[in-house]
Amino acid sequence: MLVHIVADHQNKISDLRPLLSSQHVITSALLYGNGRLPKDCDAIVAAADLRNAENIAALKTVSTAFKSARRKIFVVDQKARLDAAQAYALGATHVLFNPVYQESLLAALGGSGKPQEPAGDADQVAREAASEGAACLDSMFRSVSTGQQVDVAGAKRAAAKIADAVGESGFSHWMETVRRHHEGTYQHCLLVTGTAAAFGLSLGLAKADMERLYTAAMFHDVGKAKIPSTVLDKPGRLDDQERALIETHPAAGYDALKGTGGISPEILDAVRHHHEYLDGSGYPDRLGAAAIADLVRVLTISDIFAALIEDRRYKPPMSRAQAFDILTDMRGKLEMPLVTAFKKVALNR
Ligand SMILES: [Fe+2]
Ligand SMILES: [Fe+2]
Repeated sequence: MLVHIVADHQNKISDLRPLLSSQHVITSALLYGNGRLPKDCDAIVAAADLRNAENIAALKTVSTAFKSARRKIFVVDQKARLDAAQAYALGATHVLFNPVYQESLLAALGGSGKPQEPAGDADQVAREAASEGAACLDSMFRSVSTGQQVDVAGAKRAAAKIADAVGESGFSHWMETVRRHHEGTYQHCLLVTGTAAAFGLSLGLAKADMERLYTAAMFHDVGKAKIPSTVLDKPGRLDDQERALIETHPAAGYDALKGTGGISPEILDAVRHHHEYLDGSGYPDRLGAAAIADLVRVLTISDIFAALIEDRRYKPPMSRAQAFDILTDMRGKLEMPLVTAFKKVALNR
């Protein structure tokens, strides 16, 4: 089947294309792009913000141009059910809510006509926790970059929700949810918080330690708010100057948070020292093993693992097994009994 994808952003096309390309021939165009449209197609898949009047007008044109397409599948935001009504008004034969699953999309194209299965409760919990976590990180990063105080209570609440979601729907599910819907530094912080929560749960940490751990994870990279995104998100290798700039983020995070009510010394310590290694080769203070707290050791392992399994546009995610192998190769730098204990989290699906 020839399927034409049209969207208001390139990233939506990039998300949808791999879901379809194994079974259909795909063409795609941006809603306002100058790319050549196919003469004909069997189906269109449209993904655009339907609260935007210009998008609606442009989609009307597309819908008319592909009058003969038997299926017109609109992918809309779950949070805005009014969008669904708008999609049907534009000629949609099927409306799918984000996050759209390959199964639902293929079923809609295959003509089963079955409505998308409502997401399970656990799925809903994970998606809500991830959205709230991302919103909280966004506000936290904005506050730090503009020199304002961060909302500590909000961050603690969001981190607790993430820990609940991981406890309820499992670490694998959390990881997939975050990688599917979030990008860059926020994706990383959400993954680290979920990894730390899963690790803490599997270690059987007491409630107060769990709270300290997942809150520290939420805050750990906030100093990156001071680093230009051109350096933070640079694909490929960093030069020496860029690396030195990146390495300022633990101290920058510490400086931004110190003196803020509600942030304990243990959390400040974790923010400043999550890149320290037991052999003294880390940064910023080149601490040795004796000066690195247990909480920090757990966070560092979670941080490295999460960074390795991230899904960035310029690099495919590493498998969990490969990422775990890298941790085991860091003998001398990480606490090996903790790495061994982490195996359950890293490899258990
Ligand atoms: Fe970091
Ligand atoms: Fe990190």
